[in-house]
This record gives sequence, structure tokens and C-alpha cells, in this order.
Amino acid sequence: MLVLFVVSTAAVAAPARGAVTPRLPAAAISQLRTSSYAVVEDYLNPAQVQLIKNDVDALRTEGRFKVAGVGDAADNRLDDDVRRCEQCFLYPTMKHGGGGHAEGRTLLYEVLDGVRDSLQVGTSTQLDSLLTEGLYAAYPQGGFYRRHVDAFPGTPQEIRAFSYLLYFNEGWTAADGGQLRLHTDGGGEQRPPNARPSYVDVEPKAGTLAIFRSDLPHEVLDTAAPRLAVAGWFNTPPQGSSARRGLIAALGGALVVGGAVKAVGGLLGSGGGAN
Ligand code: OGA
Ligand code: MN
Repeated sequence: MLVLFVVSTAAVAAPARGAVTPRLPAAAISQLRTSSYAVVEDYLNPAQVQLIKNDVDALRTEGRFKVAGVGDAADNRLDDDVRRCEQCFLYPTMKHGGGGHAEGRTLLYEVLDGVRDSLQVGTSTQLDSLLTEGLYAAYPQGGFYRRHVDAFPGTPQEIRAFSYLLYFNEGWTAADGGQLRLHTDGGGEQRPPNARPSYVDVEPKAGTLAIFRSDLPHEVLDTAAPRLAVAGWFNTPPQGSSARRGLIAALGGALVVGGAVKAVGGLLGSGGGAN
């Protein structure tokens, strides 16, 4: 039985409406140095949650949300068995040409920049600000995202160092489901044959930030209510030849799950010293 470490930001003065949140608490940083995840409840205050939800509402009205597939951007197959959710990409910065809600979106980018900077300094990991990925993920009632890994060696997504989630579900209760399950059984896309189940569940409550190393398998449990998140990745600068780096950068923002990415990985080969 694993204990979920939850870091409280209660001791930090609440930021003013719209102001950038404090950097990651020291306890979360120190946890990420020694383990593969950290969860910070109330990382965003209710006013900040509302501002960002304004952006979601505007983008929805504008029809910017699309059914999310699996695989990379060039092969965005629908796979209802793996994932049921709608998404709206957020990068490159200020995507959607003035659509959405500028104040909420600007706040979101500032928050994510702050998280990235403090992760970079706190964990001594070089993170390329130009390669940050992110999207709004709206799960309907009956949504899910089965066990998967966000970063695979030998693929464009191998540069993902940390996965992040921000949640926007006010009044969430256990009956709503949709917990983020982080698998700590030592496996990848599947639990090792002889391993016992081992995991921690994160409640997707409004304002909660979850960060984990992108090679950690995880899933979204079935939802019994609509569920809203920002999901994304902080990337290390690509290694290897400039052609390889260019291709990786061009593929940045691609969404990946399961084996679909391996086909794209074949284009890149394993040369260039990146593996
Ligand atoms: C993802 C993902 C988890 C969540 O989008 O890759 O794992 O809690 N999302 O929404
Ligand atoms: Mn994921």
C-alpha cells in the first residue's frame, strides 16, 4: 500500500486574482528529485481556475475541441478502446489566432512557464521552453484513457522528461471517478507478469497539479462526470544530428499513446546518440 504524498501550499500566501502562482513548493521539488511523481493540491486558486475555464468555454464555443485520437499528429487514429476524450492543442503559444479568452490563456502559459522553470532548476534537468507541449483534455461522462506511457525511447517523444496535469473539476467527489492512476509496479505499458498491482491515485480536483516523469505508466480511470484537465509535457533539448533534431522539433506537439508511436520512431532510427 503506497502512501500518496500531497504537498500543501497552504503556508504560501494566496496569490491575487490572476497573479502568477508561486513556484513549485520545495517539498514537491525534493520529492521529484528522489521519486517519479509529486502532487500539489490548490496550486491554482479558484479565481485562476475560473479564468482558465473561461478560455476553455470560449474555445469550445468556437468549435476548437476535437475528438482525441492516439498516435502522432500525422496518424491521429481514433481508438475508442484506449482513450475517450476531446482535446484542444495549446502550443505553439497563443494558438488559435486570438480565439479563446486571452487573459485566461496568458495566465495558463505563465503558470506552466513557472512550473517548468522551477522543475528545471530544482531537478537540474535542462528543459527547452520552445518545446513545451500542452492541450486541454475534456473527458465526457464515460471517458477514460487506458494505461500508457508518454515517452518512448527511440521516438520523437523520447525528449519528454516530465508530464504535467492541471485539473479544473470544481466540487469533484470520488463518485465522479476519473482519477489519474500512476502505476508504480515497475512495468511499462503493461504490468510485469509477476508483479503485484502497485499504484497511487490522484484526485482530479480543481487547482491540483500533478507532475511525473514521462516514463511512468499511468491511466485515467473511467469518468462518471465530465472531467477537464490541461495535460502536457516539458521536453529536454533534442540530442543528435541537426536533421534528427529538426524532425523531432517538427513532430513536437504530436500526441502519442501505446505502440502507434513506434512507427514514427522508425523514421528517426536510433542513431544520433539520443538513446
Ligand atoms: C495524457 C494523460 C492524464 C489525465 O493526456 O497523456 O495521461 O489525468 N492524461 O488527464
Ligand atoms: Mn499520459
